[in-house]
Amino acid sequence: MKINFIESTFPKEGSLVVFGYEEKQLSEFAKQVDKKTDGQISRAMEHDRYEGKFGQTLCLSAPSGLKVNRLCLVGLGKEDELDELKAEKIGGKIMASLMMSGDERLSVAVETSKKAKFTPEEFAAHLAYGAKLRRYRFDKYRTKEREEKKPSVIALDVMLNETDAAATLYDSLDAVAEGVIFARDLVSEPGNVIYPESYAEQIKQLSALGVDVEVLGEDEMEELGMGALLGVGQGSASESHLVIMRWNGSSDDEAPLAFVGKGVTFDTGGISLKPGAGMEDMKFDMGGSAAVVGLMKALAGRKAKVNAVGVVGLVENMPSGTAQRPGDVVTSMSGQTIEVINTDAEGRLVLADALWYTQDKYKPKLMIDLATLTGAILISLGQEYAGIFSNNDELAAQLVAAGEAVEEKVWRLPLGEAYDELINSDVADMKNIGGRNAGSITAAQFLQRFVNDVPWVHIDIAGTAWKQKASDLAEKGATGYGVRLLDRLIRDNYED
Ligand code: BES
Ligand code: MN
Ligand code: ZN
Repeated sequence: MKINFIESTFPKEGSLVVFGYEEKQLSEFAKQVDKKTDGQISRAMEHDRYEGKFGQTLCLSAPSGLKVNRLCLVGLGKEDELDELKAEKIGGKIMASLMMSGDERLSVAVETSKKAKFTPEEFAAHLAYGAKLRRYRFDKYRTKEREEKKPSVIALDVMLNETDAAATLYDSLDAVAEGVIFARDLVSEPGNVIYPESYAEQIKQLSALGVDVEVLGEDEMEELGMGALLGVGQGSASESHLVIMRWNGSSDDEAPLAFVGKGVTFDTGGISLKPGAGMEDMKFDMGGSAAVVGLMKALAGRKAKVNAVGVVGLVENMPSGTAQRPGDVVTSMSGQTIEVINTDAEGRLVLADALWYTQDKYKPKLMIDLATLTGAILISLGQEYAGIFSNNDELAAQLVAAGEAVEEKVWRLPLGEAYDELINSDVADMKNIGGRNAGSITAAQFLQRFVNDVPWVHIDIAGTAWKQKASDLAEKGATGYGVRLLDRLIRDNYED
């Protein structure tokens, strides 16, 4: 979809959106349109439940006096309560309600008065950003879908006076949207398309944006002693990879922020095979890594003034004659040994080596990992919040605040010695599962055994990486969860 910021006119095609406020107040442009249509907006308001509340919409087809096919009045609620997120949500709501209309062009007239906390250009840029995120749809394999079932909108004209300022603000938001979209694409692709080798190839694309991409294969990981990660991939026909992405937007002597992602391109459970029903969903088990890749794309795309390193462990968890067995003992890069009780608790094995490697090699200022790690997090938090676990109160609080700001919410769960004991093993230094109780916490305890002094957060996104239901900013399916969250964390706390 093409996004343009243009000066206000009465458009001659497509759909036109104008805004109103609570108690049926109209914006200045809406008043002009009302006049031009001989009071059609006023009349329609009299006969509708529309009151101007946030997100309420009133549409007229073929309005007289205008050349557009459709005229919609959209409520913004109380003007002094508008903020960036609300602007994004309105963009998303407009897109959701009009993208299937049959019109190709969508024009939105933006203005804000002194009452609003922000300028028209900020409102316009965030509205466009929300619209772009909501317009995304993964439909490349629906080759027989009828045209009239596909979204029609291909151009969004945001109309305001300060067009240049809006376009400049939008540029950096667009970079973040591109990161989110890349993450969604990667998560949506099936396991026969995205497997460790093809995934590594996809990530190499980021070098065009100035990201330094390094790919380690099994020999190099063997050399490094990554027995935990390699054990997970040993049953697969695809070679496991560790991919390291570096973005240096700050001075060379600044320690980087590190982001580590679980990239299990398909999780069958291995020899501890998962039940067949619903197993297809496990193509999403690389969602943590996709968030890291999307974040790196966003940071490079908007030339963020920060040093960041992204590390993703790419493996496929398959049962086969070469697969790891329950009871196997593996030695991780840290030297610690692990008894693999259940081959389906594989994500933590991948992260154990990826985390150790990252802190050892890059001495980061902080380290955040993302993983679709446990089904138990869905039982605890559903699809509304991701679970976070941290050794650092300040960092955890920063993440909570960033999550509220972009509505990729996180809820902190505890860590502690009594939980840690549950993963002690009689055979090795630890075992890879802790039993039925507190499944997300024992998984986090396992990860913590591979984290030294660095401020660290683990984000369990098993409930948030994929949604059954559309939201204002995303169609149902892959959400790209984590990209906007971490971009915001960096923007608010760690950029020069
Ligand atoms: N990728 C899964 C976690 C998962 C399960 C995400 C269901 C979304 C829905 C992970 O590798 C896994 O299989 N975890 C096991 C751990 C158990 C064996 C201790 C789980 O959660 O069942
Ligand atoms: Mn598993
Ligand atoms: Zn998994």
